[in-house]
Amino acid sequence: MKTPSSNHNSRIGLLTAVLVAIGATARSADTPTLKDAYKDHFYVGAAINRTIATGTAVRAENVNRTSELVDKDIALVKEQFSQISPENDLKWALIHPREGADGYSFGPADAYVNFGLSNHMYIVGHTLVWHGQTPNWVFQGTNLPPGVTNALSPVPAASTNVPGTNAPGRSRFGLGRGGFTGPRASREELLQRMRDHIHTVVGRYKGKIKAWDVVNEAIADGGTNILRNSLWLEIIGPDFIAKAFEYAHEADPDAILRYNDYGLENPAKRRKLITLIKSLQEQQVPVMAIGSQTHVNVSSPSFEAEDQALTELETLGLPIHITELDVNGAQGGQRSSSADISNNAATTQGGLVDDANRKLADAYAGLFRAFLKHDKSVKVVTFWGVNDGVSWRAQGRPLLFDGNDQPKPAFEAVIRAAAGEQSNPR
Ligand code: GLA
Repeated sequence: MKTPSSNHNSRIGLLTAVLVAIGATARSADTPTLKDAYKDHFYVGAAINRTIATGTAVRAENVNRTSELVDKDIALVKEQFSQISPENDLKWALIHPREGADGYSFGPADAYVNFGLSNHMYIVGHTLVWHGQTPNWVFQGTNLPPGVTNALSPVPAASTNVPGTNAPGRSRFGLGRGGFTGPRASREELLQRMRDHIHTVVGRYKGKIKAWDVVNEAIADGGTNILRNSLWLEIIGPDFIAKAFEYAHEADPDAILRYNDYGLENPAKRRKLITLIKSLQEQQVPVMAIGSQTHVNVSSPSFEAEDQALTELETLGLPIHITELDVNGAQGGQRSSSADISNNAATTQGGLVDDANRKLADAYAGLFRAFLKHDKSVKVVTFWGVNDGVSWRAQGRPLLFDGNDQPKPAFEAVIRAAAGEQSNPR
């Protein structure tokens, strides 16, 4: 006999079959999506890679996304997220690999922006000025001695979709600093290149990209220096940060301009950030939001530590965007609060910690509780990747969905946190 509830169940069964057929995952019909669960508080987004933006399968050394999986990834992004960030394709090395007006490669970035527009998402740009993933030519002087060429080392396009693009030697230190030893540009030359780049890229997506990571990771880890040593700092001087914000503001006066960095859970690094931003504010530099990457691990920060971090960041009076959230569950990553890419191999080694799924769920519950507590300031929360299969820290299984786009217990914990349920306070 058909009862109302068996009717209901068969409708859910049918719905599930339809969802599976169109490539969505089979989450229970009464579980809200992330974007809906948090819609009264902040955007919930994800960094997407080129395979997702362009709908192209990829087969590489360390990742294999068939077209079926890519379709599922796309369906998951549309279903769960209201905001996107570009994992790689707007970084200087990818969008502007060669010098000159024809040195840009806009195709993948255009696909990224179009993906966001057609799905009515809040679109973020990442990143304009960084010591990583920036080609050598940017820092190279034009008055080269005879025999020295302006040779570049572009990042191979095939590797830009996938974990490993940021392999040490090619990213933070490879192109941004250690890889370049030739004659340097002058301050004026480098400022001119920075301005051209920012005007071209920000100008192209004016009104479409709503928030930009203008300067990424300029603060030093450890020591007493506030600023990290980089070619930007060495060639231009400390005002490279102010200049980057000025140029971005000229190019799109309506865009939200962020300063973005990692390790702000660490009190010493946070103090440096606060000093830096206060000084920019005193100089009337148009820094409009703090980007806290939040690449953390299952052992820390606790709810209390994150609450404290957000309380201190809020004293700057700016919106806070959680820009690159992931929670490393690998044993190798439990002692470090650095997210420096050159440590990635070490921090994702050793296999997962015991009871990793439960610890991950507890960690995410604590973080989202803190974000909610500070929802007057926290306006965007972006996961750094869509699922564990495409994460830069894949071995640490740091996200809410597994490599097959199935929700993990951490997903349920984040949904429960939105409803104020604290079943697993951390
Ligand atoms: C940093 C950068 C990101 C990304 C991650 C690792 O946090 O801001 O663009 O490269 O490292 O993938």
